[in-house]
Amino acid sequence: MRVGIFDSGVGGFSVVKSLLEHNLFEEIIYYGDTARVPYGTKDENTIIRYSLEAIEFFNNFDIDLLITACNTVSAYALPTMRSKSSYPIIGVITSGVKALENRMLNKDSNILVIATKSTILSNRYQKEIKLLGYNNIQAIQTGLFVPIVEEGLFDGDILDSTINYYFKDLKKPDAIILGCTHFPLISHSINNYFNKTPIMIHSGEAIVEYLENNLKIKNRFDNTNLKIYASDNVDGLRKIAMKWLDN
Ligand code: DGL
Repeated sequence: MRVGIFDSGVGGFSVVKSLLEHNLFEEIIYYGDTARVPYGTKDENTIIRYSLEAIEFFNNFDIDLLITACNTVSAYALPTMRSKSSYPIIGVITSGVKALENRMLNKDSNILVIATKSTILSNRYQKEIKLLGYNNIQAIQTGLFVPIVEEGLFDGDILDSTINYYFKDLKKPDAIILGCTHFPLISHSINNYFNKTPIMIHSGEAIVEYLENNLKIKNRFDNTNLKIYASDNVDGLRKIAMKWLDN
């Protein structure tokens, strides 16, 4: 099976990493729209327009499935993308919420959703989580993490003070949804801030659970061929990808 992975930049590699760990696909075609990252500050029409251009890119490959490894795209563009493609497309929000449901049985748990401005404003996570009966939800925009990750600053002072800036007034969460695929790359620092107690929901692990349990994709390939494409500076993207995928 050949799968396409689409993100605005480097964040989708956190999903690729999980897919590689489970050997679910024979080939992964990655496309990062590095010329226009971040998407999380853009409005709905722009996010949909960029996502349709990604569909045009993937139409050059014979893919069996497209995963939009970007929460921002998943929040706004899936129906329009599906109407323009001949292959199935899945996003990362529904799978993330399902992963939360599997892990957090107590509906009074304090759930923190962190994501880009656009994802939080879409209200998609908050609505889906509320529908499951959880009633303590904090949802905050933490878009500054995106350029920090794009710069490859996976730890250090800048990251630590940004974490402190965003989290200092929060009630301590029981679970954190990393509602942006860039964030797993800094999850160890977030974990350290909270003394490792919260359960972290990670789009990559959640999508693997969804593929295996809901779509019944359970193939195991000995090797996965990974091809990386970008709308700008593909060498820079490959370098960051290798640093992350090697860890
Ligand atoms: N990685 C993307 C997400 O999951 C978006 C980051 C951005 O482009 O702002 O939302």
